[in-house]
Amino acid sequence: MSPRVHFAGTPYDLLPGETLLGGLARQGVSIPSFCRTGVCQTCIVRATSGQPPRESQVGVAGALVQQGCFLACQCVPDGPLEVELSDAIGSFATRVARVEGLSHQVMRVELEVPEGFTFRAGQFVQLEREGGVTRPYSIASIPGAKRLELHVKLHSGGVMSQWLRWAEKQPITLRGPFGECFYFDNELDRPLLLAGTGTGLAPLLGVTRAALAAGHRGPIHLYHGSSTRAGLYLFDELRTLAEAAPGLRVFGSVLEAPEEATTTLPRRGASGVGSGSVAPSSGKAASSGRATAAGKPIGAGKPASAKGAAGATASTTGEPRCVLRHETLDKLILADPLDFFQCRVYLCGDPGLVQRLRKRIYLSGAPQARIHCDPFVAPAS
Ligand SMILES: Cc1cc2nc3c(=O)[nH]c(=O)nc-3n(C[C@H](O)[C@H](O)[C@H](O)COP(=O)(O)OP(=O)(O)OC[C@H]3O[C@@H](n4cnc5c(N)ncnc54)[C@H](O)[C@@H]3O)c2cc1C
Ligand code: FES
Repeated sequence: MSPRVHFAGTPYDLLPGETLLGGLARQGVSIPSFCRTGVCQTCIVRATSGQPPRESQVGVAGALVQQGCFLACQCVPDGPLEVELSDAIGSFATRVARVEGLSHQVMRVELEVPEGFTFRAGQFVQLEREGGVTRPYSIASIPGAKRLELHVKLHSGGVMSQWLRWAEKQPITLRGPFGECFYFDNELDRPLLLAGTGTGLAPLLGVTRAALAAGHRGPIHLYHGSSTRAGLYLFDELRTLAEAAPGLRVFGSVLEAPEEATTTLPRRGASGVGSGSVAPSSGKAASSGRATAAGKPIGAGKPASAKGAAGATASTTGEPRCVLRHETLDKLILADPLDFFQCRVYLCGDPGLVQRLRKRIYLSGAPQARIHCDPFVAPAS
C-alpha cells in the first residue's frame, strides 16, 4: 500500500505505483504540468517533511534539491510526504519586446530581461501567458545581453506559439531558469560538440555564444539538422559567427535540397572568405583523407583512427568553418574527428534524435556525465 501524502495540509491516499501528480489529479487537485516525463520541470513541488524518491529529483538543480524540491510527475512516494507548491522557483513579470519571423515555422521572440532574473547560457524557462498557459522554451541569448532571445516553433493550433505571433508589447510571466544544459566557463580548453534539430538550435546557440564570449580555446563543433534547407533558419547568422570565431565550426545537415547542400565556407584566410563570400566545395577536403564530416564521402562511417585526433582545431587544420551537407545528422556527427572522450556534448530538440545521439555518442566514448540533453518533448495528452 502506498503511503499517505499531505498536499497543502490535506491528506490524500495514492494507489500503488501511482505518481503524486496522477494521484492528486485523480482526487481533483491540479498541479501545473506539461510533459509528465520528467523533462520540463513544470510540476516541481517541495517536500516540507519526508524524503522524496531520488528518481523524482533527477535533473533538478542542486540548490532546489537542497530545499526539498522534486518533480511530482516522477514521484511514486515510498514513505510519508508533506508537500506544497514550490516558491523556490523565481517568477518574473516581463514583456514581449519583439517578434521576428526567421522562417515560415520559426520566430525569434525577444523578451525584456526582468530585474533580478539570472541564468546560465543554454538553460530554459517556463513562459506563462494570459489565461495561465505555460510552456518551456530555451534561451538562445547569454547573460548580460540586452534581451532574452527565444526561438519559437509555430505549431498549428499551438496555444502558446500562435499567441506569441501577435504578442509584441504583451505582458508575460517567466519562471526559472531550469536545466543543466549550460556552458561551463571553467573549461576553456575542452572540445564542445553541440547538435540539434529545429529550434533545438536555441540552447546550442546560447552555449556557443557564451563559449565565444568567455574566450573558449577548445574547438566548438555546432551541428544543426533539418529535413529542408529552410529549416536551417539561422544558417546565415551561424556562418557569420563562424567567420569571426577561429575555433568554431558549423555543420548544417539537410535531407532535402541537395543542390544547396554541398556549400562550404573555407576557414578565414582562405580565398573568398574575407569578403564573406561562400565558396562551393572544391572536393579537396573529401579527398584529403582527413576524417572530417565536411569532407567525408556521404555514407562513410567514423574511422577508429579519427578518435585520436583530439583537439584538432579548426583554426589550424585548414578545414572549412561552415559546411552544409546532404547527409543525416547522425552520420555527420559520428564522422567528427573530435575525441568524444574529451568533449562536453549538448544535444537538443527532437526527442527521438536526442535519445539516439546520446546513446551513439556515449558508445563512441563520451562520458555520460558530460552529455547534456534537452529533448523538446510534446505536451502530454
Ligand atoms: C526543456 C524544453 C525546452 C524547450 N525549448 C523549446 C524552444 O526553445 N523552442 C521551441 O520551439 N520549443 C521548445 N520546446 C517545446 C515546446 O515547449 C512545445 O513544443 C510546446 O508544446 C509548444 O507550445 P504550443 O502552445 O505552441 O503548442 P501546443 O498547444 O502545446 O501543441 C499544439 C499541437 O502541436 C503538438 N506539439 C506541441 N509541441 C510538440 C513537440 N515538441 N513535438 C511534437 N508535437 C508537438 C501538440 O501535440 C499539439 O497537437 C521545449 C520543450 C522542453 C521540454
Ligand atoms: S517534468 Fe513533470 S510535467 Fe514535465
